[in-house]
Amino acid sequence: MKYHYKRDAIKPLPIKPFLNMVKDRNQVIERAEAVMPRTEFNANILAAKLHPEIQYVRISDIKDHGDAKTFILVPDEKRGTRELAYFRAGQYISVSLDFEGGTMCKPYAIRSNPKDALGEKNNHYMITVKRNITGLASDYMLDCLKVGDELEISGPLGEFYYQKFRDEKHVVALAGGSGITPFYSMAAAIVSGIEDFDLTILYGSRTSEGILLKDELEELERKSDGRVKVVHVLSHEEKEGYEHGFLTAELIAKYAPEKYSLFICGPKPLYAFGDEQAKKLGLKRKSVRKELPGDYINPQKNEDYPAGIEGKTFRLKVHIGGKITEIQIRSDQTILQAMEASHIKAPSHCRSGECGWCHSKLLSGNVYIPQDVDGRRMADLKFGWIHPCAAYAAGDAAIEVYPVIKEQD
Ligand code: FES
Repeated sequence: MKYHYKRDAIKPLPIKPFLNMVKDRNQVIERAEAVMPRTEFNANILAAKLHPEIQYVRISDIKDHGDAKTFILVPDEKRGTRELAYFRAGQYISVSLDFEGGTMCKPYAIRSNPKDALGEKNNHYMITVKRNITGLASDYMLDCLKVGDELEISGPLGEFYYQKFRDEKHVVALAGGSGITPFYSMAAAIVSGIEDFDLTILYGSRTSEGILLKDELEELERKSDGRVKVVHVLSHEEKEGYEHGFLTAELIAKYAPEKYSLFICGPKPLYAFGDEQAKKLGLKRKSVRKELPGDYINPQKNEDYPAGIEGKTFRLKVHIGGKITEIQIRSDQTILQAMEASHIKAPSHCRSGECGWCHSKLLSGNVYIPQDVDGRRMADLKFGWIHPCAAYAAGDAAIEVYPVIKEQD
């Protein structure tokens, strides 16, 4: 017989303990408890704490800023959430909403300091929601939610945070409107020593009156020991002490040090505008980081938009949770928006074609997917998977959606 090991090496080993192995094992089994012990590994316990699928929260306070409100969210122990998951400054949560206009999940950047999510006492998240002309969800949150209301939110998500091995030690932020919120969290994290980089925020608003969180930003700047600087840029007002105009390459060059990373968060037009300015400044792609833009708009403006579908309505069959529902879908609605408007509880988080949470199978028909939000992998393309948050019906179609099943469902 040919052995695949060196027999000489094991010859000195005593043979006796090996002779009774089966007998010994049977005795151990005999003595054991009838119930199988449950083992939980520390890594799994930590992963569950950092990445919970759902967190149950209550609104403990609401602060009014005029056309925006800040909601303080605390864990709802009654429904099983004892503490909130820790997050990196710049991440978001998606909030599940169910109201007359639809059933949806909307992403909101966590505005608070990450340290406020630590510990069992007083841990909370803050989100600030600004009224948005086309925003059903923001209208609902601003007009209907009140202190004491219960919400379901996701764990912290997204990659829009400082990464010291990739980003420069100095970050220049371009912010517009409620796009200030992730930068607010970063500034708070710098002030409390959680993050170690310098931050210059160029914050665009129409007028000085309309600057969101102005006093709070000033306070952070004061406490930051020079590490956080906020420059207000007004597009519709000229006033001493403020920059006037837009967040242009010239303005960035005026305030930026020699080496920096450019972070962008704000209304959709700011992303394309920010890209143009970055190009003028000769910044490399890796030096420009953008928050996900959310719901896609105006697909008909794209050159590859299918001819003859603009303004049409189609039928969409949705297979979900063992049921088939037929709904109407307009050609300017994403498949996700059409399902939400029909109160179908479809999973989603980023609403930007990126996270894959809404991943669904196209069973029949054609869809249009704008190239700039097509975050699918090669295998998805090959086997007909789509992201309904970034796909439009180009005719009658059918899809199969895989909903998130909660333990109590
Ligand atoms: S919700 Fe993230 S890819 Fe659709």
